[in-house]
Amino acid sequence: MKKIIIANWKMNPTTPRAALRLMGKVARGLRGIKNVEVILAPPFVFLPILRHTPYAIRHMFKLGAQDVFYEREGAFTGEVAPPQLKASGARMVVIGHSERRAMGETDDAVNKKIKAVLESGMRAVLCVGEKERKASEVFPKVVREELLGGIRKIKKSLLANFIIAYEPVWAISSNARGKADTPKNVYEMAILIRRELYRALGKRAASKIPVLYGGSVDEKNAAEFVAKGAIDGLLVGGASLNAKKFVSLVKAVDKIK
Ligand code: 13P
Repeated sequence: MKKIIIANWKMNPTTPRAALRLMGKVARGLRGIKNVEVILAPPFVFLPILRHTPYAIRHMFKLGAQDVFYEREGAFTGEVAPPQLKASGARMVVIGHSERRAMGETDDAVNKKIKAVLESGMRAVLCVGEKERKASEVFPKVVREELLGGIRKIKKSLLANFIIAYEPVWAISSNARGKADTPKNVYEMAILIRRELYRALGKRAASKIPVLYGGSVDEKNAAEFVAKGAIDGLLVGGASLNAKKFVSLVKAVDKIK
């Protein structure tokens, strides 16, 4: 299976022109990539623009969104519905990112969003991660809660499009002391997350769910995380805004046998 690398651009860049330039540079740098599926998740407003780039650029990526609302249409000022995202070119949605949870998003809302996205035929990426690392906790309670809260009552038939991203909040580069996790810990967490998924969903359904890691991933550490972390890919923030860094990062993972 191909590795998955998601570029979460967060609230960047400022203009459509800069978004097009970044996408174009990354596309040129990544020609010939074989073993990695690259998904770009720009701000909502850039989706239709990036979708209509020339084929040579567009076909290198899938597009994704960074959030969604769970209703299909109606009086929900400021929200964006799954069918609207799909019609704008998104094939995947990041859900429950810690930066959204910090603004008040609950496990219940995350669960509704996951169901809505899967039912609309897009892939849903559930983000889970603890705020701080307590030495006494082997498997942080909050990770289990976010995981089980996110997948509550999800139809097994929809799980083919489901992805987990383990992203410890303390490891995100934009946090004051943000520092990458170690491949060894990511390995252990990925095993614990899979074990929890086995218990909740059964081995057959759970074994097909990719588990990604995110948090200060860059061109220097990406390959080691994928090679030693027992993960299926990466969720990248800061480094995905620098075309040169992001191209090296993806190429490093592409080379892994
Ligand atoms: P950084 O790669 O900047 O640490 O961000 C990680 C992230 O939040 C991706 O969703």
